[in-house]
Amino acid sequence: MNRPTTAAHAAPAIAAPSYVTNAKLKQWVTEIAELTQPDRVYWCDGSQEEYDRLCNEMVDSGMLIRLSQEKRPNSFLARSDPDDVARMEDRTFVCSKNKEDAGPNNNWVAPDDMRATLGNLFKGCMRGRTLYVIPFSMGPLGSHIAHIGVELTDSPYVVVSMRIMTRIGRKVLDILGPDGYFVPCLHSIGAPLAPGQKDVVWPSNKEHKYIVHFPETKEIWSFGSGYGGNALLGKKCFALRIASIMGREQGWLAEHMLILGIQPPGGKKYYIAGAFPSACGKTNLAMLIPPAALKGWKVTTVGEDIAWIKPHADGRLYAINPEAGAFGVAPGTSEKTNANCLEAVKSDTIFTNVALTPDGDVWWEGLTKTPPKELIDWQGKPWAPDSGRLAAHPNSRFTVASHRIPSIDPDWNNPDGVPISAFLFGGRRATTVPLVVEAKDWESGVYLAATMASETTAAIIGKVGVVRRDPFAMLPFCGYHFGDYFKHWLQIGAGLKQPPKIFGVNWFRLDENGKFMWPGFGENMRVLKWIIERCEGKGGARQTPIGNMPRYEDMEWQGLDAISREVFAKLSEVDPVQWQGELKDHDELFQKLQSRLPQEIAEQRKQLGQAL
Ligand code: GTP
Ligand code: SPV
Ligand code: MN
Repeated sequence: MNRPTTAAHAAPAIAAPSYVTNAKLKQWVTEIAELTQPDRVYWCDGSQEEYDRLCNEMVDSGMLIRLSQEKRPNSFLARSDPDDVARMEDRTFVCSKNKEDAGPNNNWVAPDDMRATLGNLFKGCMRGRTLYVIPFSMGPLGSHIAHIGVELTDSPYVVVSMRIMTRIGRKVLDILGPDGYFVPCLHSIGAPLAPGQKDVVWPSNKEHKYIVHFPETKEIWSFGSGYGGNALLGKKCFALRIASIMGREQGWLAEHMLILGIQPPGGKKYYIAGAFPSACGKTNLAMLIPPAALKGWKVTTVGEDIAWIKPHADGRLYAINPEAGAFGVAPGTSEKTNANCLEAVKSDTIFTNVALTPDGDVWWEGLTKTPPKELIDWQGKPWAPDSGRLAAHPNSRFTVASHRIPSIDPDWNNPDGVPISAFLFGGRRATTVPLVVEAKDWESGVYLAATMASETTAAIIGKVGVVRRDPFAMLPFCGYHFGDYFKHWLQIGAGLKQPPKIFGVNWFRLDENGKFMWPGFGENMRVLKWIIERCEGKGGARQTPIGNMPRYEDMEWQGLDAISREVFAKLSEVDPVQWQGELKDHDELFQKLQSRLPQEIAEQRKQLGQAL
């Protein structure tokens, strides 16, 4: 596509619309426009008209493919560069003044050095493009738990994605007012266009990628990638890394957690928050449909990736979903595993890196048992079932508004949040870790969460299937030293009148043939039922060295013949030899965090060692 060359490299028109009153914002946009030299600056109002216009422009440029209006109304497919398909942990940095504050859990570069690097990269990096200004709110507009950010980006794909994933536009500026606080989030794909240069479908920077956070000044600078968490800066960069730092300073929690509502037949409604690493089942669990045998139990969705959680005057924790949409993993999503999700993405959805059917619809591995006879794969190449490669990228995703999810909770938008009764922590573990265990108390629960581990997935660029410690499912997302983070969790709990109960779960244990022992998905309801009963002080349990676990007779088995007493015993097994290995791994983690490891954690480790 040829770009108009007339105004290129001249000073761009950067005057803000008259409704923009925030002086600091106007000054920042001016500074960044001078640095990055876009052809034009565009302030997003957040309207439907604007969304439609940008989508149409991207269809014209080839960045989006419009899907069939009959099969998938108002929906689009984007295909990213094959090098730009997931988060990049080795290119993610926390640049605190002191290296120790970032902790061994973050990549660190001295802030001045990083600013020099970024200054060079961003110089002129938006030439030939538009700088979009996106004011956004993480959390319901005006909620006392919400916070405002402004993302500057040269990617229209980011603009339309942010409109689905967050609340954007003029209404946010109205709340920001003339002197309100916002987190500045600067993003560039890092692909300037020379006059007359033809653009590519998915511009990005092959050589340089940086996702950078400055904790003291609470700034985000992201360069070179247009994909997901690297580019939609409200999500991982703000709502987790920067927000975790804000939460520590201000006495709240920013967590990689789903939030779901659960109501027993005729009973009181509870809310649970659950931390699972990337692509380990948050979206599926948040939208769970109970099996027929558990009819009458209702599950509703508040959030499926991030929770902001604040102590309330009543001595309990309340959580909001700071997002307004889902950026969920497509492969594996089917009528059987997540019917709510399939319903949500029937229309008004942006798909990225899934396969295209001949009739203008989408497909991914697991959507149907038998794949279509022919497809265009995620890289735009013809595909057939015998092609010997995946049709959709394993980290292909859909972007869809929360209000489209059929199971969305009536209180998902409540500015005060929902009260949390239990926390779940679940990794992807082939061995060692039982189906479900209840921590004795808050401190042992914090220990359980701090020592959780999981196999890596396609959500990160790198090796898949490697077991690593992923405390609280926050390894890639905690913006400061994990030792300080554990301390913060201990302090929050100590200040509560009614701390939530803490549970560990594992849906992913394998049998000797490498098959999942637990059917998962909707059947996870059986575990949730036991958890709720424990919260109500009703469910039975037996004590084990690692916590309380259900006996076979404590769980509902009607309609699930596959799990015999023997299989359940295997799912619940705490093997002493495996757990000695586990303890060694705990020690290795604690060794790394030693300088700031809370005494309480060391004490819990001692007790666990003795119990085992
Ligand atoms: P992010 O958005 O990356 O943070 O991940 P998420 O935790 O929301 O991941 P999601 O729910 O999309 O996880 C998808 C993957 O988990 C797919 O491979 C699913 O098949 C798998 N999965 C989810 N629930 C279950 C389950 O109960 N059992 C098994 N075996 N797999 C599951
Ligand atoms: C994750 O990786 O945990 C995600 C996807 O939720 S992304 O937004 O790309 O980080
Ligand atoms: Mn996530």
